[in-house]
Amino acid sequence: MHFYGTSKINDKGHLEIGGVDTTILAQKYGTPLYVYDVGLIRERARGFKKTFDQLGVTSQVAYASKAFSSVAMVQLAEEEGLSLDVVSAGELHTALVAGFPREKIHFHGNNKSEEEIKMALNEQIGCIVVDNFSELFLLNSICEELQRPISILLRVTPGIEAHTHDYILTGQEDSKFGFDLLNGQAEQAIEFSLQSNHIQLLGLHCHIGSQIFETTGFILAAQKIMKQLNIWKEQINFKAKVLNLGGGFGIRYTSEDEPLPAAKYVEEIVKEVQSQATSLGMEMPEIWIEPGRSLVGDAGTTLYEIGSQKEVPNIRKYVAVDGGMSDNIRPALYDAKYEAVLANRPLDEIEETVSIAGKCCESGDMLIWDLPLPKAGRGDLLAVFCTGAYGYSMSNNYNRIARPAVVFVEDGEDTLVVKRETLDDLVKQDLPYKKKVCK
Ligand code: LLP
Repeated sequence: MHFYGTSKINDKGHLEIGGVDTTILAQKYGTPLYVYDVGLIRERARGFKKTFDQLGVTSQVAYASKAFSSVAMVQLAEEEGLSLDVVSAGELHTALVAGFPREKIHFHGNNKSEEEIKMALNEQIGCIVVDNFSELFLLNSICEELQRPISILLRVTPGIEAHTHDYILTGQEDSKFGFDLLNGQAEQAIEFSLQSNHIQLLGLHCHIGSQIFETTGFILAAQKIMKQLNIWKEQINFKAKVLNLGGGFGIRYTSEDEPLPAAKYVEEIVKEVQSQATSLGMEMPEIWIEPGRSLVGDAGTTLYEIGSQKEVPNIRKYVAVDGGMSDNIRPALYDAKYEAVLANRPLDEIEETVSIAGKCCESGDMLIWDLPLPKAGRGDLLAVFCTGAYGYSMSNNYNRIARPAVVFVEDGEDTLVVKRETLDDLVKQDLPYKKKVCK
C-alpha cells in the first residue's frame, strides 16, 4: 500500500487524510467525494519554487489550472505564490472571482474567442500565450480597437516527442498547437510581434506533453529553442526575456510509475538553459514552468461507496461503486491506471482480485481492473488514490449523474470547497418545449 502526503491509517484502523478520518468525511459529505490533501499541494508548490530559488534563477511557477480549477484551489495557488495558467473564459472567470492577481495570470489555448481575448485585455492579465497566426492578427486588431497593450509569449512546437501516452502528446511537429520552431512560422510571428505597437513580446513558450518521466524531452526542447534564439538574436535582433517550458512532469499513479522528484526536472532544465546561454554568449532568460498534474494529482483521493457486485464464474468479479466515468473519465479515455484501498478497513487481509466498475451505462466505464482487495460488501468505502488532476476538471453529467463535492483537508480540519450538484442543478438550464400552434 502506498500512501501519499499526509495519508495514513489512524488508530481506528481507517484511512485518514490531512488528519481527518475518511469514513467521517464520507458520512458528512456523502460519496463520491473528492478529497484534497492541502498540505501535499503546498509541499509540491514549495518544492518547485525552492528549487528555482536555490538555483538563483528568476522564474515563475504557474499552476496549470486545467488540472483542477475552483475558487478555493486558485486561492491556494495564490497563497503559495504561484502564477496561474488559464485556458478559457471559465478558468479566467474562476481566477477573477477568487481574487487572483491579474498580472500573474497567463492565458493559453489554440482557439481563444474574440470575447476571451477582450476579457483578457480588459482585465489586464499578465500575458497571453499566442498559439497561431490567426490569433496573433486578431489579438493585434483587438488591442488596436480597445487601445490596450498586452504582453505575450509565442507558443512554439519544437518537434520533440516526449515519452508518454500518445493521446496527450503535444510537442511533435504535426500538432494543433503552436508555431513551428524551425519552418519559418515562429520567425514570422516574432517579426510581426516586434513591429506591433500594442504587443510586447516577452519570449517563447513550449509544452512537450504530459505525464513525462524523463528529462530528455525538456532538455532537447530547451536546447533547440536556445540555439534558435541565438540565431534570431543575430538575424532579427530578438532577445527573449522569458522561456516557458510548460508542464508535464510525471507523477506516481501506481507501483509501475517511477517519476523523478520534481526538483530534478527543474534542475535539468535550468542546467541546460544555463549551459546553452553560456556557450552561445546569450543572456539567461527567466524560466517559467506550468505544472498541473504534479501540483495536485497525488493530493487528490476519491471516496466511493461500494454497491452491487457481479460474479462471472471463473472469469472475474465486478464490484460497482457509486461514481465512475462521470467523475473520472481517465481510465475510459486513456486507459489510465489507479490504486485503491478500502478506506474503512485498509488493514484487512487481501482475499481476492476484483474489478471496480462505475455506475454509468457503458461497458467501458471501468475504474480499475484487477484490484487486490479484502472481501468487500455494500456500504464499504473505496478510496481511489491520485485523482487530483483531471478528475474533477474532466467530470461530466453523463447519465445525468450529479458531480461530486470537493473537500479540502488540512491539519485535522475539513472544508467543503465545491458543493455537490443537486438534482435541481441538473435541470436548471433546461427549458420546456411546447410546439407553437399556428392560428
Ligand atoms: N501547459 C500547457 C500548455 C498544457 O497544455 C498543459 C496540459 C499543462 C501546462 C499542464 O500539464 P501537466 O503538468 O498537468 O501534465 N487530460 C489529460 C492531460 C492533458 C494535459 C493537457 N495540457 C490527462 O488527464 O492526463
